[in-house]
Amino acid sequence: MHAVEIKNGVFWVGAVDWTVRDFHGYETPRGTTYNNYLIMDEEITLLDTVKYDFAEITIKNIRSIADPSKIRHIVINHIENDHVTSIDKIMELAPNATIYITDKGQKGLERFFDISGWNIKIVKTGDTLNIGKRTLLFIETPMLHWPDSMVTYIKEDKILVSQDAFGQHIASAVRFDDEFVTCESMAELEDAVVDYYANILMPFGQLIKTKIAEIQKLGLDIEIIAPDHGVIWRSDPQKIMQMYLDMANGKSNLSVSIIYDTMWKSTELMTLPMVQGIKDEGIDCKVIKLRSTPMSVAIKEFWKSRGCLIGTPTLNNLMFPKVAEFLSHMRGLRPKNRIVGAFGSYGWGGGAVKEAYGEFSKMGLEVFEPGLQVLYKPSAEDENKCYDFGKQFALKVKEYHQKF
Ligand code: FEO
Repeated sequence: MHAVEIKNGVFWVGAVDWTVRDFHGYETPRGTTYNNYLIMDEEITLLDTVKYDFAEITIKNIRSIADPSKIRHIVINHIENDHVTSIDKIMELAPNATIYITDKGQKGLERFFDISGWNIKIVKTGDTLNIGKRTLLFIETPMLHWPDSMVTYIKEDKILVSQDAFGQHIASAVRFDDEFVTCESMAELEDAVVDYYANILMPFGQLIKTKIAEIQKLGLDIEIIAPDHGVIWRSDPQKIMQMYLDMANGKSNLSVSIIYDTMWKSTELMTLPMVQGIKDEGIDCKVIKLRSTPMSVAIKEFWKSRGCLIGTPTLNNLMFPKVAEFLSHMRGLRPKNRIVGAFGSYGWGGGAVKEAYGEFSKMGLEVFEPGLQVLYKPSAEDENKCYDFGKQFALKVKEYHQKF
C-alpha cells in the first residue's frame, strides 16, 4: 500500500501484512498492519518503524515523500520486534538522525542492535521535541505493552500516536476507522478491538485506567488516535478510549461461554443439557471446543462473557492437556471480574475438575461450586444434573453481573 496522508504533512508510511496467521502464537485470521508515520516539517521526523521483513516497503513509502537521508529525528515508541526490527535499515539511510526513546527502550534496543554509532536521546513523560511548526510530547506508558513503551502526541495536529494501545490485528486496504466501517462493519471493528485487548492487554487493565486518566488530566485535545496496528481512529477517537476504559473496568456481556475439550464425547455430551439450562434462564451461551478453535479465539470468548464453564475429562488423574494449556494461558493473562465453574467426565479416580478449581483459585476468580463430575458417560439422571448445573450457574452469573 502507498503512503497515505492522515493530516496535512503527516503520512502513514507503514506496511500491510495480509498473510500473517501466527503472531507470536496469537492467531491472526485477518492479518495485521505495522503502522509508522512520517512528519514533513522543517525537521523531518519518523515515528516508529516496522517488522524486519517489511523494511523495504516502509522505505519505499518514505521515499515517495522524502529522501530518507533527510530524516532528522526518529521516535521509537516501542521496541517489540514487530515495530523496531527495521531500524537498522533506516539508520543506514539516515545515519545522522537522532533516535528518541525511553531509558528502558534504549536498554532493550542495545540487545537487538549495535547502537554504538547511533545518536540516541532518552526521553521521559513531559519531554517535548520541536521539529519546526510542530511540537511532539512524549508520555511513557510502561507495560502497555512492554516496559519501554511510550506514546507521542503531535500537539498542533492533535494526533496521538499510541503504538500498540488502541490497535487491532486487521489487514485492510483502508487506513481509517470510518472507511473500515463502510467496507465492513462497526461490529467487525469492535470485535477486533476486543480480540486484541483480550489477548495482549488483559493483564494491564489497572495500568490502562491510570494512563488514560493521566492523558485526560493533561487535557490533550485528541482528534486522531494513530496506533501501530490496524485502522486509525479519526471519526470518533473517544469511542476507542471509552471501550478500553469499559473493558478495564470489567464490562462484559451478560452471557456464558462453555469452553471444553473431550476424549470420547462424554464431556461434550454434558454441554448439551447445560446449554439448555443456561438458555432457560434467559442467558446467551456459546460453546467452544478447544481442539477445534484457535486459542486466541477461545481467550476472546472467555473475555466477552461474564461467566465461563470449563469442561475437562480426566486423563491420568489430571485435566485434559488442551484444557490445562488454556487455563495456563488464561492465568498469565490475569483475568478479573469473571465467574467460573468446572465440569467433566471421568473413568475411575477423577481429578480433572478439582484441578481446574485449583487453577481458578490461583487466578483469584469468583467461582461457582461445587463442580460436576460424571462417571464414564452421562445417564438420563446425569443429564438432568447437567441441566440444573447450567441453570444454577446462569442464576449466579446474573447475580454477579449486577456488580458491574
Ligand atoms: Fe505490536 Fe507490543 O508490539
